[in-house]
This record gives sequence, C-alpha cells and structure tokens, in this order.
Amino acid sequence: MRDVRRDYGKGSPIEVKDLGNPLDLLSRWLQDAIDGGVTEPNAMNIATVDSKGNPRNRMVLLKYLEGDDIGFFTNLKSDKSLEIRAHSMVSATIWWPEMERQVRIEGAATQMDRELAEDYHASRPRKSRVAAWASDQSRPLGSREELEERFDQYDSMFDGEDIPLPPFWGGYTIRADKIEYWEGRPSRMHERVSLSRGDDGWDMTRLYP
Ligand SMILES: Cc1cc2nc3c(=O)[nH]c(=O)nc-3n(C[C@H](O)[C@H](O)[C@H](O)COP(=O)(O)O)c2cc1C
Repeated sequence: MRDVRRDYGKGSPIEVKDLGNPLDLLSRWLQDAIDGGVTEPNAMNIATVDSKGNPRNRMVLLKYLEGDDIGFFTNLKSDKSLEIRAHSMVSATIWWPEMERQVRIEGAATQMDRELAEDYHASRPRKSRVAAWASDQSRPLGSREELEERFDQYDSMFDGEDIPLPPFWGGYTIRADKIEYWEGRPSRMHERVSLSRGDDGWDMTRLYP
C-alpha cells in the first residue's frame, strides 16, 4: 500500500461561474462522469450521526438535484433515516476516480415530498419496486431464504398490478450549506474551492490542498 500512488494531472483551475447557483458545477461534473462512462457516476457517501454522536456512513445514489438541494431515496425506517430524524445535519462525498474529482456537501436533510418519491418509485424496474417492499432495511435478517421468501410473497401479491410506493419508503433532500469542489493536480498541488451559504448569498474561498 505504501507504494501505491498516482499523480493526478487532469484538473484545471476550478471556476465557479455563478455563485447564485452553487450546485451548477456539481451538475456539470456529474454529466462529465456520466459521459465519461464512470461506474455508478451518481454514487455518494452519506454520513449521519447516531444517538451517541458517532458518525456512520454508507453509499447511496444521488437521484435528485434541484437548486441548492440534492436528494436520495431510501427506507424511511432504516438506520440512516432514524439518525437523520434525530439529527438532521449530514455530510455527503462524491468521488469520481476516473475524473480525479471530489465534491463534498454539508447541510440539513429533510424528508422529500411524497409525490417526488412516488414519481421516482414509478420509474424503477418492477423487481426493484418489489424489493423495496420486501426489505426491512437495517433490521436483522435470519437468512437469505427469509429475504427471498418475502420477495416472492410481494411479487405474487402485486402480480399483474401496479406496485405502489411502500408507506415506509421515500426520499431525503439535503439543503446544501457548504459545498467543496476538489480537483486533482500534479505533485499533490490540488485545487480546492469551498462555497458557504452566508447571510447575503454564497461566499467562495480557495483552500490549501
Ligand atoms: C453504490 C451503492 C449505492 C447504494 N444506493 C442506495 C440508495 O440509493 N438507497 C439506499 O437506501 N441504500 C443504498 N445502498 C445501500 C446502503 O449503502 C446501505 O447499505 C443501506 O441503505 C442501509 O444503510 P443504513 O443501515 O445505514 O440505513 C447503496 C449501496 C451501494 C454500495
């Protein structure tokens, strides 16, 4: 591991064109990652804090980007959801190795309008919608067979029918208060630009790498 290293060289100076639209660069970088064929270009790591103040993180898929809000979908009774409900501040990181770019976002997460979650649910493949019903996410599971039996039960229950959004499933949007764009440059002289929500709009600061 000590000798595994790579010099980054793709990046150019980060320019935030419109401070009134701080997530515009995220949207453009996401598009670059999609166009560049990156695996799971919308995968992001979300950190929450549990009741003892311990940080906990896991990957989710970024599925919503509007104004200062970014969103993802999940089980509303999962650990992450319970943690968000008790302490709404979360932190998210996206890393595209092929693009040598990282984005960090901090802000408060709130539950998304149900209509948005319904729209998204309706767009998912049938089996993913069945799986949303079958998974008691984050709770102990006795065996693989138990999960597969639950999947088959819901699969038969909704046979030939529309699969509704489970009442325990939905989305969260994070209202960004802080965004950091990072781009790799040669000799570890990377680019970092941090945007913070201030009283009169967004402030921009460059940071040492
Ligand atoms: C690439 C990737 C994408 C994922 N996307 C989601 C997602 O969008 N929503 C979700 O609930 N879980 C997603 N998961 C699973 C979560 O990482 C996690 O295992 C699950 O949500 C339970 O987390 P929790 O117990 O902390 O609530 C994803 C996992 C990976 C590896």
